[in-house]
Amino acid sequence: MAPGRYPAAAARLLLLSSCLPLASLLDSPRSALRTAVAPTSAFENVPLAPPDAIFHVAASHRADPDPSKINLGIGAYRDDNGSPWVLPVVRRAEKLILEDSSLDHEYLPIAGLKSFTDASVKLILGDSSPAILEKRFAANQTISGTGAVRLGAEFLARFHKSVVYISNPTWAVHRNIFSDSGFEVREYKYWNESTRGLDLESVLSTFQSAPEGSILVLHACAHNPTGVDPTLDQWKQISDVVKAKNHFVFFDCAYQGFASGDLDRDAQAVRYFVEEGHELFVAQSYAKNFGLYGERIGCLTVVAQSTEQAKNISSQLERITRSLISNPPTFGARIVSLVLNNPELYEQWKTELKSMADRIILMREQLYDALVKHETPGTWNHIVDQIGMFSFTGLNPTQCKLLTDKFHVYLASSGRISMAGLNSKNVQRFADAVDYVVRNA
Ligand code: LMR
Repeated sequence: MAPGRYPAAAARLLLLSSCLPLASLLDSPRSALRTAVAPTSAFENVPLAPPDAIFHVAASHRADPDPSKINLGIGAYRDDNGSPWVLPVVRRAEKLILEDSSLDHEYLPIAGLKSFTDASVKLILGDSSPAILEKRFAANQTISGTGAVRLGAEFLARFHKSVVYISNPTWAVHRNIFSDSGFEVREYKYWNESTRGLDLESVLSTFQSAPEGSILVLHACAHNPTGVDPTLDQWKQISDVVKAKNHFVFFDCAYQGFASGDLDRDAQAVRYFVEEGHELFVAQSYAKNFGLYGERIGCLTVVAQSTEQAKNISSQLERITRSLISNPPTFGARIVSLVLNNPELYEQWKTELKSMADRIILMREQLYDALVKHETPGTWNHIVDQIGMFSFTGLNPTQCKLLTDKFHVYLASSGRISMAGLNSKNVQRFADAVDYVVRNA
């Protein structure tokens, strides 16, 4: 009940009764009384929420009728014609599912489709992970990677309440997830503006001075929005501090295989931490690497210290899942499970995954070449050095706005661009526009 609701209603009743004789109020049929005293709204204190920074850009792009518009906002893969791409291997799996008359629409178990979660664990940790061999892992199917982060946050809020550290900058939703789950959220400086690279010194010193047992949210690969990842040697340094301070690491892994085109390489940070004996959570998303954005398919993988702990954690994740979503949806899980568990489909997927990563890498090269050819003021090596879906261009908010207003290019005001929105037909036009705004804004 909103505070002040009753006093407001009581005041109205008082006002009304001073105008009407009490007897007439008492005589009135109940329905008349109800109309006379309009209840105060339960929603009168609800303010307008700010629009979502990423989905808002997508909506503005949709609303623009200009045929030459370019969408570099939301991180969703596009082919060289600028169209969404359903992976042929996904089409094959869909067909197999539709033709399989043994499948029904019954509920999945609360923890999800077991053949899917088992395959997800192997995909991220590697077949010969110590956590798998020693049977000290748990996994819960989730509503994509976002749902995995949220489920993990809800679990930690109950069983490891501590301060949460997110990178600055990071994917905008991280902060809201952890603060909605009741955490104090602090930042570690990740981006070094002058080198346009990782600020390792700040990362290490923040983790060093953070309270013991803090929760550190790390991007497993293809950091969003910067496209800058620590090298393996830098991950080792991070692991050492985490160990010394007994911190808890929560990896967000939204781009396995999509970043470099190599599933193992993109999992190297997670696997290194597991080898080093850390307990951890990994949120896995199959939005980008399978193109299953709208199917909302993901997994929360847990590495614990013992089989018994893993079993207890798993039971609590199920308990939380039941009250959040009851049990997860089937379709995406069936697709991913079929592909990951069938050697032929798996090989096809790896090839198609690499083709997406390669097209993005090609766009990086073409954008870089075009800017260098223009002699656009500034340095642009970061475009080719960064990895994954995004490039953090270094363009300022005024330049970004001019790109939208004058050239119908849609991008986040932070200067983040989704490289997948570029293609052989628009990359030159985009480079021309960047050259213009850098010189004029
Ligand atoms: C993005 O960062 O653009 C994507 O991860 C989509 C999203 O959910 O924000």
